Formats: sequence, C-alpha cells, structure tokens
Amino acid sequence: MLGNMAPEVTLPYGRHQVDDEDVAAVVEVLRSDWLTTGPTVEAFETAVSAYVESEHAVAVSSGTAGLHAALYAIGIGPGDEVLVSPMTFVATVNAVLYQGALPVFVDVEADTLLIDPTLIEPKITPRTKALIAVDYAGQPCDYDALRGIADRHGLYLIADACHSLGASYRGRPVGTLADLTVFSFHPVKPITCGEGGMVVTRDPQLAHRMRCFRNHGIDLDPHQRLVAGTWRYQMQDLGFNYRLSDLHCALGLSQLKKLDLRIAQRQAIADTYDQLFSSQQQLVSLRRKADISHGFHLYVIRLAPQKRDQVFTRLRTQGIGVNVHYMPVHLHAFYRHSFGDQSGCCPVAERAFETILSLPIFPAMQETEVKRVVEALCVAMSEARPS
Ligand SMILES: Cc1ncc(COP(=O)(O)O)c(C=O)c1O
Repeated sequence: MLGNMAPEVTLPYGRHQVDDEDVAAVVEVLRSDWLTTGPTVEAFETAVSAYVESEHAVAVSSGTAGLHAALYAIGIGPGDEVLVSPMTFVATVNAVLYQGALPVFVDVEADTLLIDPTLIEPKITPRTKALIAVDYAGQPCDYDALRGIADRHGLYLIADACHSLGASYRGRPVGTLADLTVFSFHPVKPITCGEGGMVVTRDPQLAHRMRCFRNHGIDLDPHQRLVAGTWRYQMQDLGFNYRLSDLHCALGLSQLKKLDLRIAQRQAIADTYDQLFSSQQQLVSLRRKADISHGFHLYVIRLAPQKRDQVFTRLRTQGIGVNVHYMPVHLHAFYRHSFGDQSGCCPVAERAFETILSLPIFPAMQETEVKRVVEALCVAMSEARPS
C-alpha cells in the first residue's frame, strides 16, 4: 500500500470533454479500412484549415512534433538562433534544440506574460532566423508588432498556438497571424484528439516539407501511392514518424464542431472569476487585451510571492487542482546544465513565476465550482503567513 497518498483532485485545472458523438465518430473509423494515413486525416486537416482560415494544414502526432516540423520546414539548423519566450511549456524550446539551433530567450510583459515586442530587436544577431511567439493562456500575442519586427529583419514568425485555437487578434483568427501556426490536441487543450497536433500555413512549400518530415522524409504516403497507382516512393531527407492516425483525427474532427461553444463556456467562466475577484485587492488576474478574443486555456492569477506556495498546498489538500504555468524554461535543470546559469536574463518572467497560480477552468465547469474555488482561495489567502 502506498503511504502518503496525495489528496484526490476533484476539480482539476483542465479537463477534456468527450461526448457520445465523439465516441461514435472514432468507432466509425475503427470499423473502416483506414486506421492511419487515410481520408479522415485529410478531412481533419481540411476542417482545421477552413476554421482558422489558413490554406494548408498538416496533422502531426503532437504539438511538440508540430513545432519540430515547423522549424525543420523553414530550414533551422546548427548555428542558427531562434528567439523565444521563456514563459512556456518546455516543448516550445526543446524543438529548437531538436534542430540543433540555439534558443535565445526574450522576456515577457508583466501583466500578460506574452513576449514583449519592445525587447526583441536588441536580441537579434546575424544568426537569428526565427521568432516563436507563444499565446500564453490562450491570449494572442501582439502579432502586428511581431510581424513588423520579423519583416524588418527577415525572420520567420512561428506562432505556438497550443493554447489558443479558436482565439483571434484584431478580428483575425489565430492561424492567419504567423508564417506557421502550431496547435496541440492534448486533452487539456481547446479540443482534443487524445494526443495530436496541427501546423497551418499559407505556404504550400512549407506544408509539403512538413508532410514529408512527418513521414520519415518520404515523398508519398501509402494513401497517396494508392491514389497514384504506384508502389514507388523515395526518402528524400531524414524525417520522423510524426503521423496522426485516422482514429485521432476522427475525434478531433468531431470535437472541432463544438469548439466555438467550448470557447464561449471558457470565456463565461473567466468572466465569473473576474467578477468575483473584482473586490479582492490581494490578487490580480492577468490583463485581457482589448483587441483580442481570448481562448482561456488557462485562468492565471498573481499572488504575493510569500503566499503562492502556501495557497497552492492549501487548495490542493481540498482537492482543487491549482497549478503553476510555468517555471521559465531557462531555469530547468537541463537548460542550466546545458547552457549555464541564465537566471536574470528574463527578470519579468522570473519574478512572475514566483507569483502565478492557474485556477481550474474547463468548459463543463459549473458556476458553483467556480464559487467553491474562489471561496477556498480567499480563505487560503487570509490564512497564509508572510514567510
Ligand atoms: C505552449 C505549449 N507549447 C507546446 C506544447 C506541446 O504540445 P503537445 O503536448 O501536444 O506536444 C504545449 C503542451 O502542453 C504547450 O502548452
């Protein structure tokens, strides 16, 4: 028997929602001829590209694979530098390393935790080839500013939109704002395939390179060979098995139909939190920019640093699955061992990390559950001691 069992989390920070229609869609593919590299992959790609108003979509096995494929497609390699926010999941930065390039961290804005466009240009060198913007928590970055910088310096702009499918910026959907946009379909994300990812782009050459890359660098997949009536194929470059199966795509396709509803539900929960917090002086929610529609993958508050961990522990003991997103990537042990101590390079992100707490938010969350979180949070805040 395990001693010291952690209390059960009854209210997680994120939770997927799969309904009977989703299950039926997967079962239908299970009974079909194509479990992978089949027509449901293409159907899902077509549906996502139509939804985000981009021309090409390439389904891959995860958001991480999508970031890797995007960096491969634009030719990132050893000796190149890629600018990236440290306030992200490690996958964003790991993908730069997969291609043998150097990640260069750019600090974030204190009130949104999105990459700060005013800090980018001083970090650009002749080796800089790309900029990865992370739509932290589901809020799009300032893409007009980022586009201007990328164009002035000849950089590719990649959107890590793993949090922000369904969000928009100045009336334009996420998916149209960068040269390549990467989505994730992990269970806590806006829609899920179980695991999965998608990269969208307007550039047919980049899309072609990613299609080969996800299939070992081979130019024709089995379905394409069937259509072309040939068994011949060539491996043109070294790639990976980053394919997404038809089963995953069937789930994603069915989930996509409900994306707008799910986003509206997330926004309503965020509104309720905002309202309930409006009288609380001691905690601050992240700023919602006026010119965007927010996806609310996360709802993040900031607390006094002396209180954050005490509040975290107190809420967890009550089954409330608060979390911290994220420790800045350069502070992780691997990055410290590999690149030396870079602490101090992004002071805003580093200070924010000590204060942030992600509260539960998921489409099926009830108003009574939101109130339970807020009440427990207020008690925990009042009982926390300044350490
Ligand atoms: C910002 C960000 N980028 C990339 C990823 C990687 O996505 P996946 O888990 O689908 O590989 C995640 C997943 O948590 C993420 O949050």
